[in-house]
Amino acid sequence: MPLAVLDLLLADESATHALAQALALAWTQHPCPRLLVTLEGDLGAGKTTFARAFLRALGVQGRIKSPSFSLVEEYTVDIPDLQLKGTLRTTAYHIDLYRFSDPQEWEDSGLRDVIGGPGISLVEWPQHAQGMLPAADLAVHLEPVGEGRRCVVQAATDVGSNVLRALPERLNSG
Ligand SMILES: Nc1ncnc2c1ncn2[C@@H]1O[C@H](COP(=O)(O)OP(=O)(O)O)[C@@H](O)[C@H]1O
Ligand SMILES: [Mg+2]
Repeated sequence: MPLAVLDLLLADESATHALAQALALAWTQHPCPRLLVTLEGDLGAGKTTFARAFLRALGVQGRIKSPSFSLVEEYTVDIPDLQLKGTLRTTAYHIDLYRFSDPQEWEDSGLRDVIGGPGISLVEWPQHAQGMLPAADLAVHLEPVGEGRRCVVQAATDVGSNVLRALPERLNSG
C-alpha cells in the first residue's frame, strides 16, 4: 500500500490557502476520474477554509457556501487536460458529515454512490461516516498550534501519493 505523509505548520490562513491550492494543482497535473479528500479536525480547525481554497484552485467561482447545513454542495469544474489540450469536465462535491450520528443516516443519504462515483469529493467530519467511506486518497488532519495550524496530509492510495510527489519541492521536503 503506498503511503506518504506531509507534516506542516501553517502559520496563518493564507498558508492554509497555499497548501490547499498546491495540492489541487498537483492533482490537476494527472487528473483521474475520482478523488477523495477527507478533512479532519475540530470545529474551527480550518476544514472549510481548506476545502474552499481547493475548490477555488480548481476554478470554482462565486460563493462557496459551507455545507454544514445542506450536507453537500456541488460544483462543476473544468480541469485543463494538458495531454488532450482540452478540458476535463467533472463535478466537485463539498460534503460535511458533522450532523451525522448514526449509520442509517449514511445509508439514507445516498452519499455512498456520490463518493464512490466519478468526481472530486471533499469530506469534512469523515469519522461521522463510521468507517463507511472508502480509503481517502488524501486524508488531511488539521489542529490548532499556537496562532496557526499543524496540518498532516496522508496519502493512502497511488493517486494520493502521486499528488504529494507532484507538490513543489519546498512543500514536499518533510
Ligand atoms: N493556518 C491557519 N492559521 C490560523 N488560522 C487559520 C488557519 N487556517 C484557517 N484559519 C482560520 O480558522 C478558522 C477556520 O474556520 P473553518 O474553516 O470554518 O473551520 P472548520 O470548517 O474546520 O470548522 C477561520 O477563521 C480561518 O480564518
Ligand atoms: Mg467546516
